[in-house]
Amino acid sequence: MSTTTAPSGCPFSGSLASAIDPDLATGELKPGASTDFPLMPEGEAVDMGHAPDGTPLLDPRIFNTMEFFRNPYPYYRIMRDHYPVFHDKLHNCYYVTRYDDITDCYFDDEGFNTIPKGASSGVLGNTQLELSGVEHRRRRNLYGQHLVGKSLNNRIPAIEQLAEEMIKDWDNMTPEQGVEDKDGTRTVALGKAFANEFPIRVVCQVLGFPDEAREDFYYWYNSMMSGLGGSETQQEGLEARQHLEDYVEGIVEERRKNPTFLYDQDGNSLGKDVISKLCETKLDGDYLSTEEITSNIALVVGGGGETTRGAILNMWYLLLQHPDQMAAVMEDEEKWDLAFHETLRHSTPIGGQPRHNTFDVELHGVHIPAGSLVNMVDFSANHDDRIFKDPETFDIFRDDLYSGKLLRSGYAKEGRYSHMAFGVGPHLCPGAWISHQEAVVGSKILSKHLKNPRIRVDLMPKDIDGESLAPIGLISVRELWLEYDLD
Ligand code: HEM
Repeated sequence: MSTTTAPSGCPFSGSLASAIDPDLATGELKPGASTDFPLMPEGEAVDMGHAPDGTPLLDPRIFNTMEFFRNPYPYYRIMRDHYPVFHDKLHNCYYVTRYDDITDCYFDDEGFNTIPKGASSGVLGNTQLELSGVEHRRRRNLYGQHLVGKSLNNRIPAIEQLAEEMIKDWDNMTPEQGVEDKDGTRTVALGKAFANEFPIRVVCQVLGFPDEAREDFYYWYNSMMSGLGGSETQQEGLEARQHLEDYVEGIVEERRKNPTFLYDQDGNSLGKDVISKLCETKLDGDYLSTEEITSNIALVVGGGGETTRGAILNMWYLLLQHPDQMAAVMEDEEKWDLAFHETLRHSTPIGGQPRHNTFDVELHGVHIPAGSLVNMVDFSANHDDRIFKDPETFDIFRDDLYSGKLLRSGYAKEGRYSHMAFGVGPHLCPGAWISHQEAVVGSKILSKHLKNPRIRVDLMPKDIDGESLAPIGLISVRELWLEYDLD
């Protein structure tokens, strides 16, 4: 089995990523990052002084520190309580941090438009992520069918089969590949041996790449994702995108004549795969260009890997640190749904979204001139105690989080609120349903194989006391070392 390394970029970048910009693989801050702030116990903010009226001051240099990276939530609390719109003059942008305000801005895609030619466009090309209004709506549903509803449900057996195959491979894997057996127990690097690759295998299938393209697919995925991570790797990302476009060019005509299909476990057709659908799609009477088809594919490839991998690893990391909740999930597998949504609320892999305001705006007394960069901080919305009680507590049984059927156009139902991890409004993640199935179905299968699972604390990064496990902070768990009993 070939394993992928965790790439270092994501098209749905965390709002503060550009301000902080660490090396995601090592957690090291890049040159220029400030180290002037001490590392605080989790949940406590550095005292940066107070205004004469007692308001705590917030120095934006904190955003460039390791302290903020591992312990962001007390600073978001200061922002929500005292600067709900924070003008960061150092990084020349604004942050919106309250749940209700972010929701209003996301729904108002005329007033707060997505960023054309944003960070992802170089590598991924022009995608729907960067379009607003009518242009966005026309492209939004080109291939959505396989990511939702009945078609997705019919694909669950295929997702289960992929998970089973990957776990079966562990019997033949080496410590370098992330699996080691000793004294009746097995240690597994859950990222390397499962979560890094599982979501991209699912996406590769749904798109309709033939098996022989799988190795190329990993190359496109890894290089394009690294290319989103920074300027040094952008060239590599651009080359991979060109390689993908050349590949797509070679199959477009053939797929128009002879489309390929997805099937359920009984061999019934579920309709054309995503690539075949894109190849036959016409907008204003013209077929999509190869460039447009490639961009759509690149966005699904890019959007479907790193995000879901983070959700799976964060979920297991959090559950295993809360043994009572883990036990409840193991006892009743219906509770994986609760665990998935609470994980995305507590520690979402995607921190927020950038927008530009189209007009001059006055929000909470702050004037935002038209055309400013306004970051919607989903991390903060998910921890807004105006919405979620004890937001820093991981609790799959909380009664304020909506965990039912994902809400397309609303966000509050029966007194409960959705987390913000998938965004809301016109750009609500179309992969939300499939990533939910991947994480839940994959975890159900994992839980059947992992007897008495526990974290190999000795192999994991530690917090500042040198003993307890490091908090997740702003970056998803990079690797999760687990041990379980073999019989
Ligand atoms: C836990 C997993 C995931 C998270 C947290 C996530 C998060 C997000 C967020 C926050 C957005 C909104 C961007 C915005 O408002 O500008 C988004 C959009 C998008 N996501 Fe996901 N995503 C996940 C999984 C997936 C998967 C599995 C796919 C594909 C199979 C996918 C495909 C997309 C696409 C195509 C968009 C663009 C939608 C648009 O702009 O209209 N995502 N995602």
